[in-house]
Amino acid sequence: MDAQRAHDTEQVSFAEGPVAVRVPATSANLGPGFDVLGLALTLYDDVVTEVLSTETGDPVITVAGEGAGEVPLDETHLVHRAMFAAFQAMGVTPPRLRLDCRNEVPHGRGLGSSSAAIVSGLWAARSLVQDGPERWSDHALFELAARIEGHPDNVAPAVFGGLTLAYEADAQYQLVRLDVRADVVPLVLVPDHPMETEVARGLLPTSVSHADAVFNSARTALLVAALSGALPLEVLVDASDDRLHQPYRTEAMPQTMAAVADLRAAGVPAVLSGAGPSVLALARPGQEATVEAHRPEGWRLHALAVDADGVRTQDVPG
Ligand code: HSE
Repeated sequence: MDAQRAHDTEQVSFAEGPVAVRVPATSANLGPGFDVLGLALTLYDDVVTEVLSTETGDPVITVAGEGAGEVPLDETHLVHRAMFAAFQAMGVTPPRLRLDCRNEVPHGRGLGSSSAAIVSGLWAARSLVQDGPERWSDHALFELAARIEGHPDNVAPAVFGGLTLAYEADAQYQLVRLDVRADVVPLVLVPDHPMETEVARGLLPTSVSHADAVFNSARTALLVAALSGALPLEVLVDASDDRLHQPYRTEAMPQTMAAVADLRAAGVPAVLSGAGPSVLALARPGQEATVEAHRPEGWRLHALAVDADGVRTQDVPG
């Protein structure tokens, strides 16, 4: 996409009728892989969208499930904003849109709800443009999603599924995607209260010790090897330990970090999910009951799997 094209938009042909997009929840960091690792999970946001008019105009938006009654229903809705960013990146004059969102991903819980909204919006806009995939690659979509989100660790698995390592090189976001061994059981414990990512990031120090950097480097390498099947699952408790962010966030979410500590003491590899306040357990088969036994009162437990596909277009529900 050259700079000229990003500014000059053109009228294009849109898909006839609605398109439906599904995007997974994601858990970032996975303990030691701060701002790098991410995992796609089988909890989904669904968006059905269609072009109401080729003239730009006020959208018609509905939201059911998570976020209903809380998120704006005008052009500032995050999925709609992402769609407009995608149209601009593709050089397309934005149309007037209908958007029906059905959300399972809880907001402000460290499960990638804003990445899900951004990625589903970008994907939906590209799906509505008849030659969208020729105009705009998956990697360019991932890059823009990471720019909008501010960091790439949730958007990478939301786009590509599986386990992702995202990083910046030559001022571009890059990623590697890996499959996760089938016997890892991701379980998430979700409290009823949110935590703003910016608040959780504000607790982090500006520098860390060399010893803590070494500690996390070793564990990140071990974790990737264990999750992708090169090491036994028993390594996961050691491999999921962290000194770069979780210790600094404990004061803001003591109940979360107490559950993480108790689960780890019971042999379950548990971490803060993203910036919190949910807990992610990378359990082995048979450890589900241990996780349930440590579920704080009033918290939800989701027994999930790894989503291998990432964002996709699917049949429009009847
Ligand atoms: N890596 C980020 C953080 C994830 O921990 O702040 C939140 O999106």
